[in-house]
Amino acid sequence: MSSTSPKSFLQKHQIIERNASILLVLSLLVVTIGGLVEIAPLFWLENTIEKVNGVRPYTPLELAGRDIYVREGCYLCHSQMIRPFRDEVERYGHYSLAAESMYDHPFQWGSKRTGPDLARVGGKYSNAWHVQHLTDPRSVVPESVMPPYSFLANVDLDPKRYADHLVANRRVGVPYTNDMIKNTEADMRAQADPAADTKALISRYPKAVTGDFDGNPSRLTEMDALVAYLQMLGTLVDYSAYNPTQDDR
Ligand code: HEC
Repeated sequence: MSSTSPKSFLQKHQIIERNASILLVLSLLVVTIGGLVEIAPLFWLENTIEKVNGVRPYTPLELAGRDIYVREGCYLCHSQMIRPFRDEVERYGHYSLAAESMYDHPFQWGSKRTGPDLARVGGKYSNAWHVQHLTDPRSVVPESVMPPYSFLANVDLDPKRYADHLVANRRVGVPYTNDMIKNTEADMRAQADPAADTKALISRYPKAVTGDFDGNPSRLTEMDALVAYLQMLGTLVDYSAYNPTQDDR
């Protein structure tokens, strides 16, 4: 190794450091290469999000619930992404897959956890628990700092509005079919009506949880929609049958 080379290298580097224009041009060049290395492969991969069995678009009622979730800012205290670390997986279940939020516009991953992660809260509690908790969180969890959302049970949903919503989601890539869009209103009513025939709904949206969500079957309320949404979170992929090498295609 020659003893002069580190010095002459530093001397050359001085030229760059003392000339703002050269420094700027060369920095841009380096950042561009870095960016290309990260971004370019995405265009050659067949899929950037692996396909996973079971993932489907939201039912119209779940979608309405999701909107309420976003409107009320639940994401300010709750994340929906289980990271692949042992402590998280032991607490919340299988780590989140990209495919599980592929139909989310906008996604709700988040990083703020004043409350627990909700990515797999579906099926953890009964509908009645959710209604009680949303109405008055401290009546079920005395130390809770979550605000009450009792008003949701008094706001009627207007199912006529939601077909447009499915259309908007289809425009950004969610595979809602014409059949789904045509049946938006019927599906919405059927999902929250314990007396309804839900065969058609479930054929369109497998595993949809149905029944009366808010404890008041005579009304279709925002509470119905939000609880329907919470009850499906993380329930679509069957992890007992999930095989990363076989299903991630
Ligand atoms: C100010 C922060 C805050 C906001 C905003 C908030 N939460 Fe919470 N949430 C919490 C905390 C803290 C807990 C844990 C204590 C408890 O269960 O109440 C919690 C618990 C929960 C749980 C139970 C989770 C579990 O696994 O036990 C659900 C479900 C939930 N929140 C849903 C919601 C929904 C839906 C919204 C929006 C309508 C919302 N939260 C808004 C703080 C918040």
